Amino acid sequence: MTFSATHLTTHDAPLLGVNIDHVATVRNARGGRFPDPVAAAILAAEAGADIITFHLREDRRHIRDDDVVRLKASIATPLNFEAAVTDEMLDIIERTRPEHVCLVPERRQEITTEGGLDVVGQLPRVTDACARLAAVGARVSLFIGADPAQIEAVAQAGAPCVELHTGALANAWWAGDATGVQAELQRLQAGLKLAQSLGLRTHAGHGLSLNESWSATPGVAPPTASSTALVAALPAITELHIGHALIGHALFVGLKQAIADYKAEIVRARRAVPA
Ligand code: PXP
Repeated sequence: MTFSATHLTTHDAPLLGVNIDHVATVRNARGGRFPDPVAAAILAAEAGADIITFHLREDRRHIRDDDVVRLKASIATPLNFEAAVTDEMLDIIERTRPEHVCLVPERRQEITTEGGLDVVGQLPRVTDACARLAAVGARVSLFIGADPAQIEAVAQAGAPCVELHTGALANAWWAGDATGVQAELQRLQAGLKLAQSLGLRTHAGHGLSLNESWSATPGVAPPTASSTALVAALPAITELHIGHALIGHALFVGLKQAIADYKAEIVRARRAVPA
């Protein structure tokens, strides 16, 4: 599979990166070997995940170093290694040689990756990291908020891809705030336009879900389409990275079906976009 920025036409669905971190979260709750995130990644690849995404955090709260080694040894599907911009992580990535890397901000106290990377504020460090990773053949994306100055800094840093943080959109969606969702979609759209004008390949992720997950009460649905569909329908989006809600959905329907459901949602959303 190739990943050129011009590969997708408007009706091509964005690729789905399945984030398996939360399989490891469940495993680590008991400190043993089960459920194994690598087994989940193998199943996800069989079920049609286009990319396997994982985040090796500084505190190893979910994915651990030996998971990374086993993922590389077991999975032919492209790996997307999310990591903070630290020497420790860059060394591990250089040894692992994943196909893709997404550089993210990291604070130990946060529950998840709460904001985007401040590329503007650490441009030399991020530029060096992008060069190091490109030298080992990794396609690098930087995970940022849809802020024009940050998007311009991604291009300056030499990363070929940007992943826009959809957390604010997802929060508005979970709150049933249709106005907030619209405002966030517009901010994303403006960011995507700028990113494309700079020649960046454009990805998105964080907090995306399906309408089935919004309420356990049958027939109760949010006032908008699913957050996954809303973002997948933005024509500039070439890749989505989804973890927590997809793994949560898998508890009810199984991992293979959960991936099929997310892929179907993405394809439906993109097909509905006028040519
Ligand atoms: N993209 C990036 C860069 C992330 O850090 C995360 C969370 O690990 C995700 C996507 C997926 O977010 P979620 O688990 O909320 O779907």
